[in-house]
Amino acid sequence: MTGTSPSAASSGPTKDCETSLAQLRQCYEQSPDLWPSPNIDEGVEYKELGLLPQPKEPNAREQKLRSLGEQLFFDPILSASGQITCASCHHPDQRFSDGRRTSNGHHFLEGTRNSPSLLNTALQESWFWDGRAASLAEQAIEPMLNPVEMAGTREGIESRLNNSDTYRAAFKKVFSNKPITLEHAAEALEAWQATLRSRSSPFDRFLRGNRDALSDQALLGLHLFRTKARCANCHMGPLLSDGKFHNIGLTYYGRKLEDLGRYNATQAPGDIGRFRTPSLRDVAATSPYMHTGNFPHLRGILAMYNAGAPRPKPKENQLDDPLFPETSSLLKPLNLEQHELDALESFLLSLTSGTANRRTVRIEVKN
Ligand code: HEC
Ligand code: HEC
Repeated sequence: MTGTSPSAASSGPTKDCETSLAQLRQCYEQSPDLWPSPNIDEGVEYKELGLLPQPKEPNAREQKLRSLGEQLFFDPILSASGQITCASCHHPDQRFSDGRRTSNGHHFLEGTRNSPSLLNTALQESWFWDGRAASLAEQAIEPMLNPVEMAGTREGIESRLNNSDTYRAAFKKVFSNKPITLEHAAEALEAWQATLRSRSSPFDRFLRGNRDALSDQALLGLHLFRTKARCANCHMGPLLSDGKFHNIGLTYYGRKLEDLGRYNATQAPGDIGRFRTPSLRDVAATSPYMHTGNFPHLRGILAMYNAGAPRPKPKENQLDDPLFPETSSLLKPLNLEQHELDALESFLLSLTSGTANRRTVRIEVKN
């Protein structure tokens, strides 16, 4: 390996791993608990990258609830205009995101945040970019009633569902003869969304012992991700997310795109501008990125992190503002070289199912 040596918590084995790419490969072909130690800051509770847990087998009730949820997800009956479904902004062929900077909903009104992929969403501990929903069922109620999304009302949705012979019969199988409520619909949507999982990625195949599944470039990227590039301080575990909230400098405080993030949910000044670390599974297929959707390419994101992420300084009139947001101290300038940025991008591609990233395939990396 060329370039500056990663500033990994340099225990002996890590150093040995870095003597050559062949050596690095040997180190990572062991089980993850024997991988080189990651470069993790004090106070961060690290969870190693790994395979996703499989969804559990549904019982009979759960099975009915799931198919009901699937039907509802694709049905405009939940929207006031009768034209918008959950899938309008979460397309199955775009990993349940929508490819737009921010989403269009009711009468083409535009929201302020990027639509996240719903794959693996049941494995999260909170929902929305700011974590304001504590369950998937609680989450589902919001878009149905949000005036710029489906713009429904409780009465409207419940009466449309109760007036439908098909839905009355389908809900009856799960909830007996009770009138259909918004909460029943949300429970069904939750059950179906819990089945959405990423398909196997090259990284997963590598973890399962297929050594050719990662190119040398992607393998170096994996190592950098855990060490010199510091990504694993936040993007960790099977989802490549710690489920926590961080400010990476995209608050736009006092500006047009201002979004206070987690603060809106907690009112805690320390939460200003914090957003939930997104999962990086299938990331190559879910552009554009960030809560703002204003990063069209992974390359721009890597350049941002390499520079240490934005760290806005207060203007004269903001000097005494106790709410002025602070970028996370976990982010620092990284001094990554061009070939290291290429390697990181290659690793990010390997987290996406349906992409070839075999050792023999050269990944073309655009600048
Ligand atoms: C008009 C577009 C639009 C529609 C319609 C829509 N969503 Fe979303 N969805 C979004 C956006 C944008 C976000 C992120 C909003 C935020 O974080 O504040 C989101 C977030 C989510 C999340 C949270 C994901 C996460 O990672 O935290 C889930 C789950 C979800 N939507 C499911 C649904 C379901 C179920 C429906 C139908 C009842 C639905 N959405 C309808 C645009 C939409
Ligand atoms: C301090 C914690 C932290 C560190 C360290 C970190 N990230 Fe992130 N990452 C986040 C958060 C939080 C977001 C979402 C921020 C937002 O939308 O405002 C994010 C967003 C992203 C996204 C966009 C994903 C999407 O679906 O929109 C990518 C890609 C990404 N990070 C990759 C990386 C890489 C590669 C590294 C290492 C060079 C890294 N991150 C380091 C916390 C972190």
